[in-house]
Amino acid sequence: MILICHTSHEGHTAHLAQRAADAGKAVGFEPQIVDLRKQSPTLDTTQGVLVLASIHMGKHDQKLTSWVQDNKAKLQSLPSALVSVSLSADSGEPKREQEAEDYLRNFLDQTGWQPDHSLSVRGGIHLKNMKLIPRLFFKRLMRDQGLAADEQGDADFTDYSEFDRFLVGFLEDVRKRNG
Ligand SMILES: Cc1cc2nc3c(=O)[nH]c(=O)nc-3n(C[C@H](O)[C@H](O)[C@H](O)COP(=O)(O)O)c2cc1C
Repeated sequence: MILICHTSHEGHTAHLAQRAADAGKAVGFEPQIVDLRKQSPTLDTTQGVLVLASIHMGKHDQKLTSWVQDNKAKLQSLPSALVSVSLSADSGEPKREQEAEDYLRNFLDQTGWQPDHSLSVRGGIHLKNMKLIPRLFFKRLMRDQGLAADEQGDADFTDYSEFDRFLVGFLEDVRKRNG
């Protein structure tokens, strides 16, 4: 069994977690998806852990930070990976891309966790899942930056080739280390 944990506010990271679970299933693992904003799983029976977490106001979710701190020793002993999801990653603007790297680095420094694999990936905008103030803010930001959403107010900026390559590397590592 591999554990795929996520923290997602508007649903994009949850969607990436589902994609990771499908990739794991396709190569014979039994992935279990856990929403860390609702549950704090133990790591007793897992062969590997993938954590996917979105950035809001410059930070990962506090629930994720606490869970990683509480489970650090076990996490460190397993094949593990972290995917940090933000709009700054892969944005094509060096200053913002550096911010995305800093979100990830600061989180690892704060928790002391050293995952075997880590990636900053660009997420998406899902206007209908936002509260009113962020929705108005992001509507305006999209208009100002010339970003397009579909009729449902969704825009997906993730580079899926890069994300899938990352998943393959992590899953191969889990396979190798579990014989
Ligand atoms: C209220 C709010 C604050 C955000 N703050 C940041 C931020 O500080 N830096 C950033 O790069 N992206 C930021 N984002 C963009 C999210 O990281 C991005 O939309 C991500 O895909 C959200 O994933 P989720 O839907 O799984 O929560 C913010 C989004 C919202 C709605």
